[in-house]
Amino acid sequence: MYERKDAYYRKAKREGYRSRAAYKLEQIAAREKAVRPGDRVIDAGAAPGGWSQVILALVGPKGKIAAVDLLPLAPLPGENFRFWQRDLCDPALPAEILSFLGGKADGVLSDAAPNTTGSAFTDQARSADLVRTVFSLARETLRDGGTFLAKIFGGGEADAVFHELKPFFRELRRIRPEATRKESFELYLLGKGFKEQRSIPNAG
Ligand SMILES: C[S@@+](CC[C@H](N)C(=O)[O-])C[C@H]1O[C@@H](n2cnc3c(N)ncnc32)[C@H](O)[C@@H]1O
Repeated sequence: MYERKDAYYRKAKREGYRSRAAYKLEQIAAREKAVRPGDRVIDAGAAPGGWSQVILALVGPKGKIAAVDLLPLAPLPGENFRFWQRDLCDPALPAEILSFLGGKADGVLSDAAPNTTGSAFTDQARSADLVRTVFSLARETLRDGGTFLAKIFGGGEADAVFHELKPFFRELRRIRPEATRKESFELYLLGKGFKEQRSIPNAG
């Protein structure tokens, strides 16, 4: 068993972050320059709001954040933040998000994860499906050249999802931030340079 209240958990409490997950995004963003001042960002699977706190600090007052989760999220300050308590597969979401952002997103970032069941097979399959759902949202909302980041449980269909997504990016990599718990089998797919044209059937 891992120690649930580990150093990152305590650091999050101390520093006022709503989740220890905030440090995973902080580390990825610092290393990969995944979020820049003024960016429009979609935070998929955002509750309780740790990633949104990090993104708000990174994009600053000129950026915008559209956050989505099935669960409620306590308000965060700022006109440039909006939250939808919805399923990520809701077909009405893309248009509403694009209208709020005022254009396509620079980044679609997802820490969304299914509730775990104890069956690795089931959990991996659900996680893979969730990444496909987030990618569908990204195909409608991410700008050409934009950044995609999504958590996926390793094993199972993770490699298949990687190969499905690869043609849509200049570069797609698997990464594992230091703040990930050692015993966790999660990793993140990081796609840079989204190829918007690939998402238009029969284009070119
Ligand atoms: C690990 S938590 C996210 C933590 C968050 N990044 C933070 O730092 O506070 C994963 C979230 O994904 C959400 N989620 C899972 N499936 C979803 C779906 N289909 N639509 C929307 N949210 C979903 C869960 O409700 C959960 O809040």
